[in-house]
Amino acid sequence: MYNLYDMIFKRKSFRRFDDSLSLSSEELQKIQQHLKILVPLLDDVKIKYRIVKRQETSCKRGEYCLLVYSEEKENCLINIGYTLEQLDLWLASQNIGVCWYGVGKTDKLQYDGLDYVIMLAFGKARPEEFRKDYTKAKRKELEIIWSGEHITNVTNVVGFAPSACNSQPWRVVHENQLIRIFRSTEVKSIFPKERLLLYNCIDMGIFLYFMELALRQEQYRFERILSEKESSNEKEIEIAQYNVYKV
Ligand SMILES: Cc1cc2nc3c(=O)[nH]c(=O)nc-3n(C[C@H](O)[C@H](O)[C@H](O)COP(=O)(O)O)c2cc1C
Repeated sequence: MYNLYDMIFKRKSFRRFDDSLSLSSEELQKIQQHLKILVPLLDDVKIKYRIVKRQETSCKRGEYCLLVYSEEKENCLINIGYTLEQLDLWLASQNIGVCWYGVGKTDKLQYDGLDYVIMLAFGKARPEEFRKDYTKAKRKELEIIWSGEHITNVTNVVGFAPSACNSQPWRVVHENQLIRIFRSTEVKSIFPKERLLLYNCIDMGIFLYFMELALRQEQYRFERILSEKESSNEKEIEIAQYNVYKV
């Protein structure tokens, strides 16, 4: 049995795939099945997926690409990050390597009335190719991403979430029983502003999922409230608040 929480420490972005390995049709079917049980952040935003051979896209890595299409609605990008990170972690449990691939391009920009947003490249991998020591993964210092009280095994774990260009736009403020989560707008990047915004909103969804996995693992109950756009200043945009209670 695997636990998605444990996959936080195993997953990594795969950039090299062994071409001698390939996914079986059973494995592909299992992935299609798994896509159906992902838990979205928002129930009222339609998402659809297409799995295509990597050669049908501009992607140069992996055997297949999962193309993600979404309805355009408020928080739809955060929803994508939150939902698809569950797949990223689950695929690690199946020894399938993944890389979120923002720069990838497809010719099919619409599917069933939904717009193309992002792809994830994936392919079969060997267990030993996964992350061995997560503490060696490059991440920002805790003081940059987390202010206020720390929660053991949450504060020091959530920052291992993947993000575009490892930009880690998340900032957390924790006081009493309230965890506030912000997106920093001061992230430096080679991408044009619009592109960076798209990626960083997906990153924030990924981060919310990591936060929830870590809180549950530490036996916290929580209530999540997604923030209204107004509760923002220029440097940090509030994304969500969690009221947390130790069980
Ligand atoms: C939304 C998003 C887009 C990404 N796009 C790319 C990409 O286009 N090319 C790439 O090599 N890696 C991409 N990545 C992977 C990140 O570079 C990677 O998550 C980060 O460097 C942290 O490394 P790790 O995932 O191995 O922990 C992307 C990640 C996310 C979350």
